Amino acid sequence: MSLRYLTAGETHGPQLTAIIEGLPSNLTLDFEELNFQLQRRQKGHGRGRRMQIEKDTAEIVGGVRHGRTTGAPIALVVANNDWKHWTKVMNIEPIEGGDEEKRRVHRPRPGHADLNGGLKYNLKDLRNVLERSSARETAARVAIGAVARQLLAEFGIKVAGQVIRIGEIEAPANQLPVDELIARTEESPVRVVDKETEEKMMAHIDQVKAEGDSIGGIVECVIEGVPVGLGSHVQWDRKLDARIAQAVVSINAFKGCEIGIGFEAAGMRGFKVHDEILYTEELGYHRASNRAGGFEGGMTTGEQIVVRGVMKPIPTLYKPLRSVDIDTKEPFTAQVERSDSCAVPAASVVMEHVVTWEVARAFMEKFGGDSIDEIRANVASYLEQVKEY
Ligand SMILES: Cc1cc2nc3c(=O)[nH]c(=O)nc-3n(C[C@H](O)[C@H](O)[C@H](O)COP(=O)(O)O)c2cc1C
Repeated sequence: MSLRYLTAGETHGPQLTAIIEGLPSNLTLDFEELNFQLQRRQKGHGRGRRMQIEKDTAEIVGGVRHGRTTGAPIALVVANNDWKHWTKVMNIEPIEGGDEEKRRVHRPRPGHADLNGGLKYNLKDLRNVLERSSARETAARVAIGAVARQLLAEFGIKVAGQVIRIGEIEAPANQLPVDELIARTEESPVRVVDKETEEKMMAHIDQVKAEGDSIGGIVECVIEGVPVGLGSHVQWDRKLDARIAQAVVSINAFKGCEIGIGFEAAGMRGFKVHDEILYTEELGYHRASNRAGGFEGGMTTGEQIVVRGVMKPIPTLYKPLRSVDIDTKEPFTAQVERSDSCAVPAASVVMEHVVTWEVARAFMEKFGGDSIDEIRANVASYLEQVKEY
């Protein structure tokens, strides 16, 4: 059974709901760690007031007993604390009253799913689109990825993320060990290692916000300890680098993904791009460099996985853009709404978790097993085979 999940729920509805299927039995879950990951998503310089309203925690309502998975689907919910203010507007029963009371939305926002979703689903209240297309859904995906993260941690696989760029400010490159990267970025309100860059990024966000504008950036995720051979070259939809790229671009506002040196390779000579293969008794097969970001032929090489994602600036602006009212077909300029001005640090946490999920899915495909004990035996025998190769 391959790992899979579904999410449901609206941004102002009662809760987000997720069902995860395919996890093995006997995996001990650390609930505090799960909630810690959710709360990491809520931090970051540049976020709006909503994040002060929501203090996310995940409640597991199926598939876990006495702290351990049973092998049954895991059901988890993340409550929306803001729901109490929306019980009427978001009620599943019909409500009396006009547009005002229904808080009907008829003015599509540029850069959002509003207009396309309204046209596609033939919805004259764009709230039915925006409630689901909101990035609030990424809270569910962080919770799901946080469970996958605990599965991978059982096998010594570690995940870290960092912000590489916010608008015009770029962080200097670093190759810190994963544990140090985790510790250093956790202290930073913009999830960046270098203190000078941190100050510049925060000032840049403040300036952009003061101008009524928003800003995007680039985030990076590294995963260490992944064995060689996750994913496969034999079929397009089994290539793990490709699956990761899909997962990254599925995050709200993410418009591109790079593996390893990515787009930079276009301007470089082959001699400087490819990673030479070495062998020693101690390390076995390994690479002299890791420009490929841990992938060749859609399979992991055993080196660190390095993935970057680019996030566009937040589309809701204090300085409005032109749009057209779907009732009158007349132009209007959007009214000011509550919004983040920069969500790149939070998005870095989201990216860590969607990439982690894809690695865990490929891990389960390779090592199968209905219990963690069975997987452990499968991993050990495979690693022995690789060592003897
Ligand atoms: C963590 C996170 C927070 C976000 N917060 C906002 C926000 O406050 N306001 C906003 O307009 N867009 C926000 N977005 C982006 C929109 O959800 C996204 O641009 C929109 O749904 C349209 O999807 P697309 O940009 O992928 O095409 C956020 C994205 C992420 C990942």
